[in-house]
Amino acid sequence: MEFFLDTASLEDIKLYKTLGLVDGVTTNPALLAKEGQDPLEQVRKIASMVSGPISVEVTYTESDKMVKHAIRISKLADNVVIKIPASTAGLAAACVLKEKGIKLNVTLIFHPSQAIPFIKLGADYVSLFVGRVEDFGLSNKDAIGQIRESIDMMQSPTKLLAASIRNPEYLLEAVNAGSDALTVPPSCWEKVYNNPIFQLGEKEFLESWNQLPAALRKNYETY
Ligand code: G3P
Repeated sequence: MEFFLDTASLEDIKLYKTLGLVDGVTTNPALLAKEGQDPLEQVRKIASMVSGPISVEVTYTESDKMVKHAIRISKLADNVVIKIPASTAGLAAACVLKEKGIKLNVTLIFHPSQAIPFIKLGADYVSLFVGRVEDFGLSNKDAIGQIRESIDMMQSPTKLLAASIRNPEYLLEAVNAGSDALTVPPSCWEKVYNNPIFQLGEKEFLESWNQLPAALRKNYETY
């Protein structure tokens, strides 16, 4: 199972690499814009920091323009994977790009049915957005298992990439429901490790420990 970092922040990538949580990186136009830098340079820097796949999204909605943009962007680095939106225009572009051997990550999948033609095509990744649907009072937890079943039934090499992982619950669901990969934003990992019960427990352990005479603690602490 691959764990990608969902960010275009060089600082976040550097930090999470030390935690072993950057098998690759996924960006999107919003994440690149958030950094406020030259997007091409930012992608080049990210691709030089990470040996795994770096997903970079086209910023056109018409298939012929997507194809031309994808071909140009794919040349930025050998580990660049092109993000294509899961639309009919995106499918038309994906058919052309697949023929050209360009690696594809199909994004903005909110319903499993959107993924089916791309699984048939053998796109490298299909990105199911798990968390974003909750903005509309919906849940996509079951969709992970549905796409898993579709890929297996269609005997496709396509990998299921769980995206929009906004909280620890979705992280667990994505792992346990059979994703081949997850892309996790730093904000989600921060929620995992800023767990208030953990922090209280660690505080209580050390407060109890400090009740022990310093000389006894010193033996243990300097052993
Ligand atoms: O890679 C897709 C991801 O960046 C989208 O996440 O939370 O904006 O839906 P979100």
